[in-house]
Amino acid sequence: MSIHIAAEPGQIAPRILLPGDPLRAKWIAENFLADAECYNEVRGMLGFTGTYRGERVSVQGTGMGQPSLSIYVNELISEYAVQQLVRVGSCGALTERLGLRDVVIAQAAATDSSMNVHRFQGFQFPATADFELLRRAVEAAEAADATHLVGTIFSSDSFYHDRPELTATLVDFGVLAVEMEAAELYTLAAKHDRAALAICTVSDHIVTGVQTTSQEREQTFGDMVTMALDAMLA
Ligand code: ADE
Repeated sequence: MSIHIAAEPGQIAPRILLPGDPLRAKWIAENFLADAECYNEVRGMLGFTGTYRGERVSVQGTGMGQPSLSIYVNELISEYAVQQLVRVGSCGALTERLGLRDVVIAQAAATDSSMNVHRFQGFQFPATADFELLRRAVEAAEAADATHLVGTIFSSDSFYHDRPELTATLVDFGVLAVEMEAAELYTLAAKHDRAALAICTVSDHIVTGVQTTSQEREQTFGDMVTMALDAMLA
């Protein structure tokens, strides 16, 4: 057992999906995994292990933001030897090339997080996805005929920004979307030589202001989960 995860050694699979919302973790376990069993309820941050196409797969909620994700990913890697980690989340679109419910496969994640400021003391770390996972996710998106873009996202420490005009700079540099976790996931994967990827569906559009309904989010979320599982197990 680790500090925040109450699983016994061996209860967590080497491949794991990481939604921010613990209730999404439960939904994924119930709808996509066979014989799923809950291994964690500490702080309500639910985690489950089951099988997908005969292979063991886990799903763990991470909470919102990089400090929260960092706790779970550190423990999953160091205490439970997890090898492949795929975040499945939502994002706010920054480009009109993306519509609501489209999929963003994050090749790289820029960040304003103080976590990497402290860690790297003055130089900038390029937080990037595992190439194999990225390639297989793109293949899965193409096979599913899902509207998707591959590129850079921005992992913000804030959902509500005091200076929203700063997002114009991100747009100028071709950043596709904003979310709050991927950069820390990619940085920890690099540190520990693990494979990580973040796939997000567009839940809101920062330029146009439109948002998805919760029903739409559930449908799109399911398509993305299938893509993530196919990428992990290809
Ligand atoms: N996740 C979904 N939409 C977001 C947004 N607009 N900003 C940050 N994270 C998000």
